Amino acid sequence: MSRPDFSCLWPLSADVTLRRAVPFEGRLEFASLPCHIETRAMDDLLKYRAEFPILDRTTYLNSNSLGAMPRGVYDTLHAYADAWNNRGVRAWEEGWWEMAVDAGDKIAPLIGAQTGEISLHQNVTITQAIISSCFDFRGPRNKVVMTDLEFPSIQYFYHGQRRLGARIELVASDDPVCFDLDKFLAAIDETTLLVPISLVLFRSSWIVDARAIIERAHRVGAHVVLDLFQATGAVPIDVRALGADFAVGGVLKWLCGGPGVAYLYIREDLRSRLSPALTGWSAHRRPFGFEPGAIDAREDSYRYLNGTPQIPALHACLPGLEILNRAGIHSIREKSIRMTTRLLEGAQGRGWPVNTPQNAAERAGTVSIDCPHAYEVCRELLAREILCDYRPKAGIRFSPHFYNREDECDFALDQIEEILRTDAWRKHAAAYASK
Ligand SMILES: Cc1ncc(COP(=O)(O)O)c(C=O)c1O
Repeated sequence: MSRPDFSCLWPLSADVTLRRAVPFEGRLEFASLPCHIETRAMDDLLKYRAEFPILDRTTYLNSNSLGAMPRGVYDTLHAYADAWNNRGVRAWEEGWWEMAVDAGDKIAPLIGAQTGEISLHQNVTITQAIISSCFDFRGPRNKVVMTDLEFPSIQYFYHGQRRLGARIELVASDDPVCFDLDKFLAAIDETTLLVPISLVLFRSSWIVDARAIIERAHRVGAHVVLDLFQATGAVPIDVRALGADFAVGGVLKWLCGGPGVAYLYIREDLRSRLSPALTGWSAHRRPFGFEPGAIDAREDSYRYLNGTPQIPALHACLPGLEILNRAGIHSIREKSIRMTTRLLEGAQGRGWPVNTPQNAAERAGTVSIDCPHAYEVCRELLAREILCDYRPKAGIRFSPHFYNREDECDFALDQIEEILRTDAWRKHAAAYASK
């Protein structure tokens, strides 16, 4: 396999101080270097805990699915209701109309994009539809290359495009954690139009070598759609340095922004050249001219909008984005490596298989633990206010974030041990059978 190049993702290979799990008299103890204590004492990120009320009531290890809600969301949603109630229809010209691009400026620094380069949409599947609608699958360049480890909604969407002429090459993987990069690169040829690929795989948290894929795609004239959903807010990203043609993702996971907002970045030189067929009046140069016929589309990021923007969700996403920018992605990544290493080594020390890369440089924010009876154990963890999820071929996914205390990772593992020892998982067996 080719050597992955992670240089655009600094500091994935940073020399962070990691706790090492060592077996001690049959139990698992943690031995740490003296400087580790210093690192914990300096855990500046814990000051953000107070911003997330749910952290007082739960062990929140589910940020790869739904990040914790910042308390500021109560205020921004109140401000939205006030504007609607007090300003009425005038709210559109007092900020609402521009929100689907303006709010994107808070995501831009987290992915290496610039001001005005992002438009915001309802979900990631829709962003893929907008991108796909810029292309014509009826010519000889009609292939879409993707892996079967891609998030299913994206696979479903592109398979749906077969009726428009798309040919799908779904590169199969024998491994639930990662795919064979060389095999994937070989599938990208002169007939390839689009390569939708996640930078971080949703099941295993494997960091894909996006640079190699983009280089290969560009060599044969194909475009790459980089899905950053499981990456942004967990690892540093530079879409410009990577040369990504398109980058998409949502805010509800690592960005603590809630449902209803997904971002779309388009490479500067492509932005005004492409024309999405999935368009609408938000993309028009004079939307309030209500002109009949075909659109006279803007050339900036508004070009990729379509109908009325999702104003409540855009208000809800602001506090999370502000906190993430303040916390700083490099500190977040450094702490994330410490916590995922702690989970991974803790699980392996207890003899449970882990479906996540061993090497911290290849791993984003999640650790997937395939302990016995993983589905039922996950149900019991949820009942005990330890928030996590279960995915087939992955196991229990734990995704600690900057607001977690490191000892919460140990607590979750101890609870799994106890649930297995006491057979507490058994009360959920019926739920598993009826799944
Ligand atoms: C990598 C990835 N892409 C896409 C999605 C789904 O996106 P949406 O529901 O916004 O269409 C998810 C959801 O979990 C995901 O993890």
